This record gives sequence, C-alpha cells and structure tokens, in this order.
Amino acid sequence: LARGTTSPDLAGRHVVVSAGGTREYLDPVRFLGNRSSGLQGYALARAAAARGAEVTLVAANVALPDPAGVKVVRVETTAQLRDEVVSAAASADAVVMAAAPADFRPTGVSEAKIKKAADGSAPTIELTQNPDILHQIGTDRVRPGQVIVGFAAETGDATGSVLELARTKLARKGCDLLVVNDVSGGAVFGSPDNEAVILAADGAVVDVPRGSKAALAHVIWDEVLGRLG
Ligand code: CTP
Ligand code: CA
Repeated sequence: LARGTTSPDLAGRHVVVSAGGTREYLDPVRFLGNRSSGLQGYALARAAAARGAEVTLVAANVALPDPAGVKVVRVETTAQLRDEVVSAAASADAVVMAAAPADFRPTGVSEAKIKKAADGSAPTIELTQNPDILHQIGTDRVRPGQVIVGFAAETGDATGSVLELARTKLARKGCDLLVVNDVSGGAVFGSPDNEAVILAADGAVVDVPRGSKAALAHVIWDEVLGRLG
C-alpha cells in the first residue's frame, strides 16, 4: 500500500503518538526495560505529519532521529510517559498508544548502586504495578469525540484466541481502536514490517496484510479519520 500523493486530510487536527519502551530504574545505572524499537510509533508520527496534522510524539528511550515537523517529548519511565501523554491528550483529537510501557517498576529505587554481596547471594526485587495510561485516557474521556487507539501484541493462551483476548482488552481499556499483532510466530521487534488486525469498539474489523510500518500507520490514520467528528 504505497501512497504516492499524500492529501492533507489531517490538517487542523492535533494528534498524540507514544513510541518506544519505558525504563524502570533499580538504581542509578540499572533498569528494567523491554525491546520496543519505537519504529511503529515513529512511522505513525511521520505519516500524520505528512497528512497535515500537528503531531506530539512522546518517545521513550528511542534511538531514532526526531521526525521533521513533529514535536518530540522524550521520557524514560512509565510515570513520565503518563504525565506527558495525559497533558498532550487534553488538546488532542486523537491519541495513539504505540509505546510499550513497563507494566511494573521496582517498588523502591536505590539511590546508590546496588553492590554484590560477598556471600554470593542475590537481591530480591519487589515490583509495583505501573499506571495504565490507555485505560486512564480511555475511561476518563476528558475530550468527547477524541479517538483513542491502543496496540496489543498477543499470543493466544488457554483462556482464548488472539482475537478473543484482544476484544476483551479493547473493552477493558475503553479505547476506540485496538491494533492487534499476533506474535505467536516470532518477534516483530525492530522489524521494518508489521501485519495486524484493527478491532474497533463499533464492531469493525480491518485486516492489514504484512507490509511496511508506514503502510500500517496510514491505515490506522484512515480508521481514525473516519471516526473523527
Ligand atoms: N498501555 C498503557 N499503559 C500501561 C500498559 C499498557 O497505556 N501501563 C497501553 C499500551 O501502550 C498499548 C495497550 O495499553 O497500547 C496494550 O498494552 P498491553 O501490554 O497489551 O496491555 P496490558 O493492559 O499491559 O495487558 P498485558 O497484561 O497483556 O500486558
Ligand atoms: Ca503490558
């Protein structure tokens, strides 16, 4: 799906995109993190800017250059990501949560570097659940008419298939669209390609065949645009 000519169909709209993976610090030099590259979020930001939107990109630990014409806000932790997304979302027509926020953080951050014990023992790390940003913006709904999009990488399990789990997640998060990646077969992390099914709260299901992350980004904006007032 190549877009030879890009029409400015998102002109006058403000959109917020989150990208990358958060880090949760244990001490000044160590963190818990994840493998999100930020590529899909950056593709979304670039596609929206090309279509004329004002774009705020909240980027967590991404090793990618700032896209032209996009306001980039850099964060590290899930708490920082929440603060920046919630603040930008207050004036946004659409919010796309492509970031992978860490679900848990160490309960306490050690101010000093954690040292090895002489007896060979290892520390136990206690974890606390992080705030769920998508759930917060999807259920608070501070801006009526705003279109909220989540992502979900799922493998089926004993409780349901990929799409069953995704349908439940869409309802639980209160979002309008959920972009679902079936990751049973292997990793999409860092890959230039993606394939997905987009589930909508209004019941629509859009199959997006394997293609570039830019192509998927444009399909997502098409679906967002169709739901904007
Ligand atoms: N998300 C979020 N805040 C979190 C965790 C996830 O906003 N603390 C968003 C992600 O950016 C993504 C969507 O929620 O758009 C789904 O993420 P996922 O990890 O699949 O959902 P979880 O609710 O964390 O469920 P799971 O237990 O399956 O990880
Ligand atoms: Ca999660």
